[in-house]
Formats: sequence, C-alpha cells, structure tokens
Amino acid sequence: MTAKNKLPYLPMIFICSIFVLIGGIAYALNETHLAKSKLPQGCQSCHRNHGSTGSVMLERPKDELCFKCHGAVKSGIPGEAQGDIYSIVLKRSSHPVIQTTQYHVRGESLPERLPSANRHASCYDCHNPHLSTADRAYRGTKGYSGRGQDIIHAQNEYEVCYRCHSDSDNLPPDASNIASKFEAGNASFHPVETIGKNSNMPSLTSDLSTASIITCGGCHGNDDKTGPKGPHGSIYDAILSENYSMESGAESPSAYELCYKCHRRASILDDESFAAHQRHVVFGNASCFACHDAHGNTDHKNLINFDTRIVTPNSLGELSYLEYSPGKPRCFLTCHIDTATYDHKLTGGLYCINSVCQPGW
Ligand code: HEC
Ligand code: HEC
Ligand code: HEC
Ligand code: HEC
Ligand code: HEC
Ligand code: HEC
Ligand code: HEC
Repeated sequence: MTAKNKLPYLPMIFICSIFVLIGGIAYALNETHLAKSKLPQGCQSCHRNHGSTGSVMLERPKDELCFKCHGAVKSGIPGEAQGDIYSIVLKRSSHPVIQTTQYHVRGESLPERLPSANRHASCYDCHNPHLSTADRAYRGTKGYSGRGQDIIHAQNEYEVCYRCHSDSDNLPPDASNIASKFEAGNASFHPVETIGKNSNMPSLTSDLSTASIITCGGCHGNDDKTGPKGPHGSIYDAILSENYSMESGAESPSAYELCYKCHRRASILDDESFAAHQRHVVFGNASCFACHDAHGNTDHKNLINFDTRIVTPNSLGELSYLEYSPGKPRCFLTCHIDTATYDHKLTGGLYCINSVCQPGW
C-alpha cells in the first residue's frame, strides 16, 4: 500500500479510535448513557449509522434528542428515562431551555463577552451526555472559576453556573454577578465555594455544621420533591426549591420554608443568635429578606444586606450596621413596614427605636 492509498482510511481509523475510547471510559466509570443496562441500544440510542458513514449523525435534532427519553410523554422506547424534564422547564420560573437552546453553539466560549448576545441555557451547557453519571449530572461539562479562569472539566456545580451567572457581559439588567457574592474574602457568604466564616450557628439543623459545604442546588431546584432533581424549573420565583417570601407578612413554617430547611425555626424564633429575631419576624412582620442576602455580602457579617425597598437612612441620615455585642448589633436606619415606621438611632448615648430605648443594647 502506498502512502497515498492509506490516506482515505485515516479519518475512519481516527473516528473508530474515538468510539473505542469513549466505549472504554464507559465501561470503566459507568456513565449512564453509555451503560447497556440503562440504554440497551447503546450509541444508537442517539446516533445513527455511524459505522457506514463515519459521521456522528444524531438520531434527531439536538434540541429534541434529550426529550426523546426525558420528555413529558412516555412511549415505552428502550432506555426511556423515568423523569419528565420537559414539563419542568415550562414551569413559571425556569431555565429558558426551550426558548433559547438555538443560541447554544458547540464549542462556544463562555462567559459571554458580547453584550448584545442572546442569553441561553441548553441541556448541553449543563450536561455532557457521554460523561454524566448518576451522582454527578454535570460531569464532563466546562466550568468557570468566576474570576478569570476557564475550567476544562467542572469539578463543582457552581463552576458550571458561573459560566453564565458571574461576569458575563450580557447579564440582564436586574441580575448580579453571583460569583462576587461567594468570594472567600467577603465578610460573609453561604458556604458554597468554601466553608463559612461564622462559628456561632445555633440554628443549623443536625445534619449541618459550621464545616458544611452546600451547593447552589441546596436552594435552587425543583419544588416537586418526588420529581427529577436539578435547577430546571420551579413554581417558586428564582427557581427556588422551597417557598421563600421576600415580602413583609405573617411568619409561618411555609413563609420561610427555604431557610427553615437548614436553620431550625425554633432556634431563630427563640432568638438564639440575634436577640431580636422574634421581634422583627413575628411581631414586626419582617421577612428574612429585609435584613439578609441569600448569597453573600462583601462588607457585612451575618449576610446582612438590607432590603432597600423598606430600609432607608434614619432621621440623622445614617444607614449602617454595627456589630456592637454578640446577638445585639446596632443598626442605624429607618424601616417602613406596612404603615409603621421604625427610626433606629442613638439618643443621648442610648440605642433607641423611635422613642423607645433599649436598656443594655
Ligand atoms: C444520550 C445520547 C448519546 C449517546 C447514548 C451517545 N452519544 Fe455521542 N453524541 C451525542 C450528542 C448530542 C453529540 C453532539 C454533541 C454536540 O454537538 O455538542 C454526540 C457527539 C459524539 C461524537 C463527536 C465528538 C464529541 O465527543 O462530541 C462522537 C465521536 C460520539 N458522539 C460517539 C459516541 C459513541 C461511540 C457512543 C456510544 C459509546 C455515543 N456517542 C453515545 C449524544 C449521545
Ligand atoms: C435513549 C434514552 C435517553 C436519551 C436519548 C437521553 N437520556 Fe438521559 N438518561 C436516560 C436514562 C435511562 C437515565 C437514567 C435515569 C432515569 O431513568 O431517569 C438518564 C439520566 C440522565 C441524567 C442524570 C445523570 C446521569 O448521568 O445519570 C442526565 C443529566 C441526562 N440523562 C441528560 C440527558 C441529556 C442532556 C440528553 C440529550 C443529549 C439525554 N439525557 C438523552 C436515558 C436517555
Ligand atoms: C449556559 C448558561 C447558563 C448556565 C450554565 C446556568 N444558567 Fe441559570 N440561567 C441562564 C439564563 C439564560 C437564565 C434566564 C435569566 C437570565 O438571562 O439570567 C437563567 C436563570 C437562572 C435563575 C433564575 C433567575 C431569576 O431571576 O429568576 C437561577 C436561579 C439560575 N439560573 C441558577 C443557575 C444555577 C444554579 C446554575 C448552575 C447549576 C445555572 N443557573 C447555570 C443561563 C444559565
Ligand atoms: C442559601 C440559599 C441559596 C444558595 C445556596 C444559592 N442561592 Fe441563588 N438565590 C437564592 C434566593 C433566596 C434568591 C432570590 C432572592 C435574591 O435574588 O436575592 C436567589 C437568586 C438567584 C438568582 C437570581 C437573582 C440574581 O441576582 O441574578 C440567581 C441567578 C442565582 N440565585 C444563582 C445562584 C447560583 C449560581 C448559586 C450557587 C453559586 C446560588 N444561587 C446559590 C438562594 C440561594
Ligand atoms: C442550568 C443548568 C442545567 C440545565 C440547562 C439542564 N440541567 Fe439537568 N441538571 C442540572 C443539575 C445541576 C442537575 C443535578 C441535580 C442534583 O443532582 O442535585 C441536573 C439533573 C438532571 C437529571 C437527573 C434528575 C434526577 O432526578 O437525578 C436529568 C435527567 C437532567 N438533568 C436532564 C436535563 C435535560 C434533558 C435538560 C435539557 C432539557 C437539562 N437537564 C437542562 C442542571 C441543568
Ligand atoms: C431585622 C433584621 C433581621 C431579620 C428580619 C432576620 N434576621 Fe437573621 N440575623 C440578623 C442579625 C443582625 C444577625 C446577627 C446577630 C449577631 O450575631 O449579632 C442574624 C443572624 C442570623 C443567623 C446566624 C446565626 C444563627 O444560626 O442563628 C441566621 C441563620 C439567621 N439570622 C436567619 C434568619 C432567618 C431564617 C430569618 C427569617 C425567618 C431572619 N434571620 C430574619 C438580622 C435579621
Ligand atoms: C442548604 C442549607 C441552607 C439553606 C437552605 C440556608 N442556609 Fe443559611 N447557612 C447554611 C450553613 C451550612 C451556614 C453556616 C455557614 C457558616 O458557618 O458560616 C449558614 C449560614 C447562614 C447565616 C450566617 C452567615 C454568616 O457568615 O454569619 C445566615 C444569616 C443564614 N445562613 C441565613 C439564611 C437564610 C436567610 C436562608 C433562607 C433564604 C438560609 N440561610 C438558607 C445553610 C443553609
């Protein structure tokens, strides 16, 4: 065989070796979609006739392929999945997969640097169908550190999220750089990237401690606990997995269900940390959102970030948070809830709310 004659075979050999390679990895690590026990038709579940043409032709358009098995209608085809992701991405609050998947481009570079680019989220941004496993659904996808570094294979869920929710130049006007909230140098943050800074956490449920790490999925996910997991969609705003009322109103287990999943309601309402939790939350109808950021805060400890819809400067023009003594911070501000106004300020050296002064505070 002359060198010239060999040439046409090279692409075939190349493609076959990729197939052998992927097959080998599958056997070694048990990726769901490459396991014959789960998808009996193997590669043919998604590809057709690769042998004869040497192409990686998909069985149907990329947008529809996943819904063949993860759709709302179950038709009994071999290897069909149990869950229905289709109906979830149509929920009120959801990743706009159906609406924007066409903007996903294979091999694209994210975070987006073109301010006018369409935002999108496709199955392929968060999942690699060759490499995902039951315990790591995002396995084999790209990630971003949130601070300049691309990551070839994301090791943590948040690295996948940061490709679109950190310093993208096409963020919607009301969205924020989520990575900047979780930076280790911040005064406080929920422990997603690294363990938290607060060592006095009486409210934590028994399965958690000050050394715990939580994920974005700890708060963002399906409201239906019997359905598929993941941040695909929810009946609650911001794809939250439990209810979280961000408006003033009566306290109840369901109003702040999200927080009470990890912070014992009894501890919060018994004032085990902040000495005036009950006064604000139960008697004052204040939501946790009036005072706390769910992600993190650069300047304030305890995730303090006032809701500026109801919190404004006090009658002396001050708006600040001072850690005064444990459980008894001094806040200088005015808070408006319903028709009531609470002016927090120092009067003659005493800490007072309107004209009522707090002895020992
Ligand atoms: C669950 C569906 C699914 C299964 C099962 C599947 N693939 Fe794929 N494969 C895809 C999709 C989708 C693409 C296109 C990816 C893209 O364009 O981003 C692809 C792309 C490829 C490519 C192109 C290079 C690459 O990695 O993107 C090769 C080669 C390939 N598949 C081989 C295989 C082999 C071999 C098997 C069986 C061991 C297999 N695939 C099983 C969905 C699947
Ligand atoms: C031929 C059927 C089939 C197709 C096509 C298919 N899946 Fe799956 N998928 C399954 C099965 C079966 C499971 C196992 C869990 C279950 O039964 O729900 C699964 C599980 C998953 C999981 C959970 C993590 C894991 O690896 O176990 C993800 C994520 C997933 N699929 C994404 C996709 C995406 C994205 C596509 C489109 C590229 C796709 N699937 C196409 C059958 C399929
Ligand atoms: C490929 C891009 C992309 C990736 C990756 C991504 N998202 Fe999104 N996400 C979007 C788009 C687009 C929206 C719609 C609103 C917007 O443009 O920000 C959205 C919306 C959201 C919302 C709702 C925001 C609101 O105001 O209601 C949450 C919460 C969210 N994503 C969390 C996550 C989490 C958690 C991850 C990681 C597991 C993640 N996202 C990964 C693109 C992405
Ligand atoms: C402790 C619970 C919690 C965790 C953990 C959490 N979030 Fe959120 N997230 C919320 C709540 C509550 C809201 C709605 C209130 C708000 O916007 O502050 C929200 C809002 C959002 C929004 C929409 C608002 C915006 O600022 O753009 C996005 C996007 C988002 N989160 C992404 C993420 C990502 C990505 C992660 C992981 C890196 C994450 N969240 C971790 C509770 C959480
Ligand atoms: C914004 C990122 C994102 C997008 C877009 C996305 N997923 Fe997921 N998905 C996840 C994450 C993260 C998990 C893992 C949740 C967990 O294990 O807690 C997951 C889990 C899954 C699971 C496993 C559910 C279970 O109960 O174990 C399936 C199946 C799945 N996704 C399919 C899809 C399909 C199909 C699409 C496109 C229609 C899609 N996903 C789009 C992030 C995403
Ligand atoms: C009026 C403002 C305000 C409101 C409303 C509020 N908090 Fe707090 N919270 C604080 C302050 C201030 C601290 C820190 C007290 C200290 O350690 O000095 C704190 C501390 C905490 C802590 C950390 C220590 C611990 O384990 O208790 C948690 C958790 C917490 N709050 C949860 C909540 C939840 C959940 C809600 C809603 C049900 C809520 N907070 C409502 C101001 C508030
Ligand atoms: C998935 C579990 C989880 C959920 C849900 C959750 N938290 Fe937390 N939270 C934690 C853990 C773990 C810590 C401990 C971090 C540490 O030790 O600094 C923490 C710490 C805190 C702190 C103290 C942070 C500091 O640095 O002082 C506050 C305040 C807080 N959470 C409020 C909330 C509020 C408000 C909600 C609801 C919007 C909420 N949490 C939902 C797990 C959770």
